[in-house]
Amino acid sequence: MEAFFHIHTDLPREGPGDDESQAWALAQIDLPESPRILDAGCGPGADIPGLLAHRPKATIDARDTHGPFIDRVKAAYKDDPRVMASTDDMATPDGTYDLIWCAGALYFLGLYTGLSGWRDHLTDNGAVIFSELSWTGAPVSDQARNFWAAYEAMQDWQGVLADTDRAGYRVLAHRYLPRAAWASYYDPLQARINQLRAAEPDADLTQALDAEQAEIDLWRAHGGEYGYLQVVAVPE
Ligand SMILES: C[S@@+](CC[C@H](N)C(=O)[O-])C[C@H]1O[C@@H](n2cnc3c(N)ncnc32)[C@H](O)[C@@H]1O
Repeated sequence: MEAFFHIHTDLPREGPGDDESQAWALAQIDLPESPRILDAGCGPGADIPGLLAHRPKATIDARDTHGPFIDRVKAAYKDDPRVMASTDDMATPDGTYDLIWCAGALYFLGLYTGLSGWRDHLTDNGAVIFSELSWTGAPVSDQARNFWAAYEAMQDWQGVLADTDRAGYRVLAHRYLPRAAWASYYDPLQARINQLRAAEPDADLTQALDAEQAEIDLWRAHGGEYGYLQVVAVPE
C-alpha cells in the first residue's frame, strides 16, 4: 500500500468523475437552499467545489479513512466553516443528510450493505447519489473479466439497480459516467506514472506502477465493457 499511496499522493481525484457528470446528477434532485451533505469516501475532495457551487449555503461532512486525503481537504477549507473533514467511517454517519454523495467508494462497504445503512440517515426528501463499477452489457473480454475478478462483487447494471431497490430506494435516474470523467482521473495518473518511471523506481514501486498502468491500458482497450454507473435514488 505504501507504493500505491506514493503514486496517488497529490492526484486531483481518486476515481472517475467530473463537473459535467456531477452537474447531471445534482440536476435530478431538488436540494434545499442549505442542505446538509455527506461526501462519503471523499478522497482528496475533488467533488466538494461542485457541491458548494451547486448549493453555496451547504454544509459538508467530508469523510475518508485515509488521513492524508483528509489533511488535504482540511488545508483547502481551513477558512471555510461549510466543510468539516474527518477520518470518521462513512458507514456510520451522524444524524440525517439531505444528500449522501458517494463517488466510487460504496464498494468498500458493499453496495447493498452501505445503502441499507444510509437509508435511515436521509431526511424525508433526502437522496443518495453514488457511482458503482459494473458491466455495461457489452460482450466481456477475457482481459476485462480476469482483471476485475479482484472485485468479486462486481455485477451488471441491472444488478446495481436491483440492489438499490432491495435496500429500500427508488431510482430516479442512472447513467454511465462518460469517458471524460474517466480521463479526469486517468490523465493525471498517467502523468504521475510517467514521472515516477523516469526517476528509476525500486522494485516495489515498479510493481505498483505496472498495476496502475495495466488498469489504464485495460480501460483504453476495453472501457466499453464496464463503467461506473452513476445512480440517483431516494428512500422508498
Ligand atoms: C476510489 S476512492 C474515491 C475517492 C473520491 N470520492 C474521488 O472520487 O476522488 C474511495 C475512497 O473511499 C475511502 N474509504 C474506504 N472505506 C471508507 C470508509 N469506511 N469510510 C470513509 N472512507 C472510506 C478510501 O480511503 C478512498 O479514498
